[in-house]
Amino acid sequence: MTNGELFEMAVKAAGNSYSKYSRFRVGAALLTDDGRIFTGCNIENASYSLTNCAERTAVFKAVSEGVTGFKAIAIAGSSTEDFTKPCTPCGACLQVLGEFCGDDMVIILSNGWFRLKDFLPFRFNEDSMKQTGGHYGA
Ligand code: THU
Repeated sequence: MTNGELFEMAVKAAGNSYSKYSRFRVGAALLTDDGRIFTGCNIENASYSLTNCAERTAVFKAVSEGVTGFKAIAIAGSSTEDFTKPCTPCGACLQVLGEFCGDDMVIILSNGWFRLKDFLPFRFNEDSMKQTGGHYGA
C-alpha cells in the first residue's frame, strides 16, 4: 500500500461524507499495523457541535472492531471535486489519534507526508498525568 493509494482511498471515502451544512467533504483512510484499512468520512448534524470528523470516524470504527495499532492515516478534504489542496487534521482528531499512536505515526495529506509530532509535539497523554502527580493509575 503506497501513500498515494491510501490517499486515493481517503478521497473515495469522502464520497460518503454527510456534510450538508459545511458542504466540505472529508475522507480518511487508516492503515493498521496488520495491514488492514478502515475508512471514515465526516458526519455532520443539525446540532453542529455533534459533527464527527472523518479521522475520528475511521479511528472509532477500527477501535470498535478491536484494532488499536495504526501505522498511517491519509486525509482528503475539499468543497469541490479537487482534493489537491491539503486538509490538515483538526486538534481534536490529533488528540484522539495520539491516544492510540506514537509520535511517529504517519499522516498523509495531498502535499506529502508528516508525523503526528509535526502537528502536535506536546500533546497531553497519560504520561502528562503521571508527571503532574495526578491520581492516574492509583
Ligand atoms: N473536518 C473533518 O472531517 N476533519 C478535519 O480534520 C477537519 C474538519 C470536517 C468537520 C466538518 O464536517 C467539516 O470538515 C468542516 O469543518
